[in-house]
Amino acid sequence: MWSGRFRRPLNSEFEQWQRSFPFDKRLLPQEIAASAAHAKALARLGVLSSAELKSLLDALAHVKHAAAGDPHFLEDSEAEDVHHFLERRLVELTGDIGLKLHAGRSRNEQIATDLRLFVRAAIDELQSNLIELVETILEKAKKSGDQAMPAHTHLQAAEPVLVAHWLLTYAEMLLRDHARLGDCRQRLNYCPLGSGAIAGATLPLDREGMAVELGFTAPTANSVDATSDRDFAIEFVQAVSLLGIHLSRWAEEMILFSTREFGFVRLPETYSTGSSAMPQKMNPDALELIRGKAGRLAGAVTALLVTCKGLPLAYNKDLQETQEPVFDASDTSLQCVKNAIGVMRECEFDFARMGASAECGFMNAMAAATYLASKGVPFRTAHESIGKAVSFCLDRGCELADLKLEELQQFHAAFDQDFYSAITLSAVLGCHDVPGGTAPARVRAALENLEQRIRSLQEALHAHA
Ligand code: ARG
Repeated sequence: MWSGRFRRPLNSEFEQWQRSFPFDKRLLPQEIAASAAHAKALARLGVLSSAELKSLLDALAHVKHAAAGDPHFLEDSEAEDVHHFLERRLVELTGDIGLKLHAGRSRNEQIATDLRLFVRAAIDELQSNLIELVETILEKAKKSGDQAMPAHTHLQAAEPVLVAHWLLTYAEMLLRDHARLGDCRQRLNYCPLGSGAIAGATLPLDREGMAVELGFTAPTANSVDATSDRDFAIEFVQAVSLLGIHLSRWAEEMILFSTREFGFVRLPETYSTGSSAMPQKMNPDALELIRGKAGRLAGAVTALLVTCKGLPLAYNKDLQETQEPVFDASDTSLQCVKNAIGVMRECEFDFARMGASAECGFMNAMAAATYLASKGVPFRTAHESIGKAVSFCLDRGCELADLKLEELQQFHAAFDQDFYSAITLSAVLGCHDVPGGTAPARVRAALENLEQRIRSLQEALHAHA
């Protein structure tokens, strides 16, 4: 590819080490598509005849087909990188015509283009799986009806919420992850082809045409930037690492809620493993791996940031190091989402246990204080009185609802008979009657709203495809 000016062969260990083909071979479909766009632009300029263009396009189609059908096709002990590999195949198939294709282009713009195409496809696939995950959560939430559970702050039972309200929390996080990926897609969707090695192509290539052919919004605006920045890769990996963080929080709660101590969730055997030592065990491995992979995704962000930090313009071979974290983060995040869909779909909730747990432990204390406030007691005073009543109950081993009216009135004279109906589970849920709150009517509205958002995201996805 570049041996002309060299008088000595490369050190053989270094030569092997500097190759990217072992990992960038997965960019072959993108390399083929970008090469076809470049070949057509060369033909439009008259650099390739129409017969030469046809034989190149046929050869590209052949390589695409062969690579898809036969894993051994990708074995090439000579190829330095995916660009070199494809050129070697084209020369084998078309002779000198294959050698003409590199006119007016550089591997620097090729890798920048291939990686963008790769990340764009990864985003599309991830987004469609994210929508499926959110739909699965929505289904579970709908099926849970008006069932309640305790919600926690500081991991201490705080107030009851609908199970659906809890589930929708994760839908919101995941939809923001979906949107972040969409933002990244929009910003990366500009075509570097025609940027050359650094200063722009040496032929007046139809950049607009190449961009359109590859589904890009437009050509990139600056050749130095186009060949040297990997901010799109960083943004992508940052977005998926945040997705990983969200999934890890979900996984952690599912693990916790599936313990015998909580007993809220029954995890599917299909996503668990046993212990070789303890015969009774069923361990939540899928969820633990999802939680663990979040660390790996965060590591990919660090790797990319540090690789790019302080790099002088424009292309530097350091940039080759940005590929593997992108591939790994893309594979890892997709597997996490797919496994999360499976666990979510197949898990079962023990609504009886969740509900029972939502009815004890003074989770109606805030509603009780609100009751006193509704009788004209200043909230701070009400808070103090209920706190004393709770303390009294703790000594007695009972709940607020178990206290007689006279007992309650020792703590404040404003207590009346209607107190008892103000602190039932359904009253406590119902009093959170604000948009975004857990009152059942509000949660039903949130479910409908989510359903609509999912529908419009699906439509947008089909528009891309
Ligand atoms: N394999 C290289 C990479 O991934 C391709 C670009 C090589 N360019 C160069 N000037 N050596 O970064």
